[in-house]
Amino acid sequence: MPLGWFGGLALREKNPVRMKGGWHECHPYRLCFMEHALEAKRFTLTYPGMETPVFAPLDFAVAEGEAVALRGDSGAGKSSLLLCACGLIPGSVEAAIAGEIRLFGRPPGEYTRAALTQTVGLVFQNPEAQLFCGTAALEAAFGPENLCLPPDEMRARVRGALETVGLWARRGDAPSVLSGGQKQLLALAAVLALRPRLLLLDEALSQLDDQSAARMMGVLAQLKRGGQTMLFVDHDDARRKLLADREIWL
Ligand SMILES: Nc1ncnc2c1ncn2[C@@H]1O[C@H](COP(=O)(O)OP(=O)(O)OP(=O)(O)O)[C@@H](O)[C@H]1O
Ligand SMILES: [Mg+2]
Repeated sequence: MPLGWFGGLALREKNPVRMKGGWHECHPYRLCFMEHALEAKRFTLTYPGMETPVFAPLDFAVAEGEAVALRGDSGAGKSSLLLCACGLIPGSVEAAIAGEIRLFGRPPGEYTRAALTQTVGLVFQNPEAQLFCGTAALEAAFGPENLCLPPDEMRARVRGALETVGLWARRGDAPSVLSGGQKQLLALAAVLALRPRLLLLDEALSQLDDQSAARMMGVLAQLKRGGQTMLFVDHDDARRKLLADREIWL
């Protein structure tokens, strides 16, 4: 984790830092240039049939290690922006974009599918939409399997992701027998198994009861302490206060 921020510069402990040219070892307390996890420059998006863009041109940056809340009224374009950040717009969802959006220095559309899934992961509101395998373990394995990882690495990732969300003991269960809260934790585990550098959450806790939301918050807070970069939408003031370092408004 950075010890402090100075614009685009971060004072870090001795840690490998991913920079444009590859991995660089930073010496203790040396100032290093930090690449932004997500950066928008005069970025707008217009859906087909719309006369004006969804939002006015956006300029913002999310640094690695930050947990940032994305705010705005209903219809402001929060979900749309997250879809742009993970490369689903344009492409899977039709829309015209203008300006620039960069994910760790490159437009999301320039990543290969495999590289993109290891760079950014999105958890939606409804876990049912993200779960389709026979068991919790297969669900967590689905992403890493598509990366053709060695079996040991696969097993480590599945176990790590399920342990992180507290579902390792339920690895043999079908997602359909899990509670709503456990399903959402499993959807998170499936994303975490890909070890995305940027985690996006679009109202991921909004359908959970208080107890399940508290469990998921515990997991997210633990991820944040571990340095996970996050950009999330959550209408709950108390949860945002707990998790967000700052807010970006649309
Ligand atoms: N696939 C689509 N095609 C056309 N218009 C869309 C599409 N998806 C969203 N919109 C429109 O774009 C605008 C922004 O929608 P979006 O869902 O991104 O907002 P939001 O800030 O996430 O809202 P909410 O808080 O209600 O989730 C809305 O006017 C919405 O109707
Ligand atoms: Mg939305």
